[in-house]
Amino acid sequence: MADSYLYFGDNLDVLRQHIADESIDLIYLDPPFNSDKDYVALSGKRRSADILPTLQLLAGEDARATKGRVFKDIWRWDDEVNNNFQRIIECNNNRLSQTLTAFSQLIGKNGLLAYIVMLAPRLVELHRVLKPTGSIYLHCDQHASAYIRLLMDAIFGSENFLNCIVWCYGLGGSSPRYWPRKHDDILWYSKEPNKHNFEAVQIPATSQRMKGQMKKAPDFWNIPTINNMAKERTGFPTQKPEALLERIIESSSRKGDIVLDPFCGSGTTLCVAHRLGRKWVGIDNAPKAVELVEERLGILFGCEAVYKLKLTFSN
Ligand SMILES: C[S@@+](CC[C@H](N)C(=O)[O-])C[C@H]1O[C@@H](n2cnc3c(N)ncnc32)[C@H](O)[C@@H]1O
Repeated sequence: MADSYLYFGDNLDVLRQHIADESIDLIYLDPPFNSDKDYVALSGKRRSADILPTLQLLAGEDARATKGRVFKDIWRWDDEVNNNFQRIIECNNNRLSQTLTAFSQLIGKNGLLAYIVMLAPRLVELHRVLKPTGSIYLHCDQHASAYIRLLMDAIFGSENFLNCIVWCYGLGGSSPRYWPRKHDDILWYSKEPNKHNFEAVQIPATSQRMKGQMKKAPDFWNIPTINNMAKERTGFPTQKPEALLERIIESSSRKGDIVLDPFCGSGTTLCVAHRLGRKWVGIDNAPKAVELVEERLGILFGCEAVYKLKLTFSN
């Protein structure tokens, strides 16, 4: 198996500089959700800090000034965002430009639109790097999923929308003001109509009639979140369960395929892809994330896996 790649840097730069057109078989992304939160490391297992000082040095003053913070999911409208917005409006992609103009008229120039302006050019790059037989799973929640779906329609085409998978979980708080929010949305699109790889995953049937038999997994997935005692827990906030990624990777890629996660965090996608015999490309701009991915791969697959991966710093 050829090398897999881990990039430390902004995924927009990495995608533009390092990832070739139509080279990726499957994309899963779990970007910030526009939750208006600052995420810090949770108490988890002890980590070796060998690589962290180097990474902080490379990340510059910023990393030292935000010690403890893993990543920030707070979006505000400012001059830089406004310039990026103008660039999208003036680009050659009519559908995208019209969609962003309509969003600005509907919601105004605010934090939500700033978040969409961040996401849009990255989705354009992800569309470019995906093979014609590939597909993309975009993980989001109620904060922005309605807008992201329309943004994906503009970039990937509504004809390539396949499913809105509902990931149901039990954990989390509740409010006296509305129904407890206990699911995320995962939007699934192909690059081209009917060309994508897919093999349905079978799960145990629960109805009385089919008891003891298997059935195709439907578009709502009951998969528990990671509990405090789980072996896979790394202490990274927003870490997703391996079972969730297993279902996506097993159903929508084949052995030897390349799986890309441009917001890879603690490396859940990368570890599952590795275990299932896929090659992978991970990108993250948080020093803590890159540190964790290396350590997690080392623990799961031994030093060899870590030596084989190419860690690239991208400015
Ligand atoms: C929700 S977390 C991903 C969690 C991951 N799925 C897991 O299981 O651990 C989002 C990640 O995106 C990263 N991120 C945010 N903006 C980024 C950017 N522009 N380029 C690269 N990574 C980014 C953050 O550092 C964070 O690690």
